[in-house]
Amino acid sequence: MVLDYYSMCCYSQYMFTNILTYYFPMQSITRSYRILMAAIFLSFILCGFACFADLASDTVYLTWQQSPTSTMTIQWISGAEDNKTNLEYRAIDDNEWLIEKAIDIPIPRTNKYILHRVELVNLNPDSNYLFKLSDKERLYKFRTMAADLDKPICFVVGGDMYHDDDGTKSMCHTCLQASKMDPCFALLGGDIAYAVANSRSPEIIERWVEWVQAWNRTMISPDGKLIPVISAIGNHDILGHFDQTPSEAKVFSTLFPMPGAQVYNVLDFNKHISFIILDSGHANQIEGSQTKWLKTTLQNRKDVTHKFAIYHVPAYPSFRSFDNRHSSAIRRNWVPIFEKEGVKMAFEHHDHAYKRTHPLWNNKVNPNGVVYMGDGAWSVDKPRSPFFNTMGKYFAKSLPSLNFIVVTIEKGKQSIVAYNQQGQKIDEYSRVLPSTIEKIKDVEKLDEKPVEAVTARSRA
Ligand SMILES: [Fe+2]
Repeated sequence: MVLDYYSMCCYSQYMFTNILTYYFPMQSITRSYRILMAAIFLSFILCGFACFADLASDTVYLTWQQSPTSTMTIQWISGAEDNKTNLEYRAIDDNEWLIEKAIDIPIPRTNKYILHRVELVNLNPDSNYLFKLSDKERLYKFRTMAADLDKPICFVVGGDMYHDDDGTKSMCHTCLQASKMDPCFALLGGDIAYAVANSRSPEIIERWVEWVQAWNRTMISPDGKLIPVISAIGNHDILGHFDQTPSEAKVFSTLFPMPGAQVYNVLDFNKHISFIILDSGHANQIEGSQTKWLKTTLQNRKDVTHKFAIYHVPAYPSFRSFDNRHSSAIRRNWVPIFEKEGVKMAFEHHDHAYKRTHPLWNNKVNPNGVVYMGDGAWSVDKPRSPFFNTMGKYFAKSLPSLNFIVVTIEKGKQSIVAYNQQGQKIDEYSRVLPSTIEKIKDVEKLDEKPVEAVTARSRA
């Protein structure tokens, strides 16, 4: 349970020993049989130790703290005793390996694990690199992002992942489908490992370790690149779930580091694309300083064509009550800022279903409004049936389906295709973007369209 590989090997050794004892009692076998059995048994033991010792290799993953065109943050987890690892890297066409020393960070709330971090800087944009941990053989590959939008950029979005109590199988299933789409990176909306089961539960660090191992095994592009991950925080990623401070989110912040300690942040990919990563009331309040920061951050990016917001609790929930405290606060505080400052797509989670709203402006359908997509069902136990009554008018599509969303950005266009866990297409949408100035003029001229008739449905 603690470590997938290690447990598997230990269990295999246990079973193998029992089978041998049952079928070959010692008095009945020859000397050569004993040697053969000893050799096989020893190899199983060594396999077990190798798996345990290789935790570092099996937990390597990528994220970004600064510009994805010129940096890459590489992280991995080891046992607490392993604190001397370096990393070697090179551009794929270079011969010379460069060495970087890792920063060792004890993972909070456990004395069993250390996180190792190297941030590579001054990399070339749109370039492939190789790297390896200095004392290991395994080679990894990554690619930096392009500095322009001459070629389309594609990424995957989803959330609410390692939800099951009995392993990461379902999560891996969706990850394998998502990685087939060859995304440049993954944008996650929280409830990553369900490490904090309820608001009074402790944080189970092993679930984080298992999540990282599963991500390492499955989120690899068809040509062998590790797929970097950026994440917003969800309620199951923090002690206490809601109305806490960044101190309660220390494990999440260690695993998904960003500049500053405030949990919410902005990541500028290049001059065309920015991601606003928000905290829907977990380590920070929705209103107040976070809302003020959101407004300033977007106002400072008026010339950025593609501004996306990602957060956990939906402004337009497909399952929970429309008037729940957090959704209401997001609609009151953030939504008017998204509308005014040019966010065109917001990725929402938490409700364990698939949904896409019509473009909305001031709670009405408007072609220049914001489209809200989600709703957090990467690999939850059972997706929920979207609840159509008072909120039904907002939705262009909603389904009780596990899903991930593939987003493609081109110069003046944003497209999405949503897939279920089997890799079948469940939704498709695209929009051409006017410039911000044209957009504001258009909105002033436009009469808002009446909302569609409401379809009443039960929760099923
Ligand atoms: Fe949640």
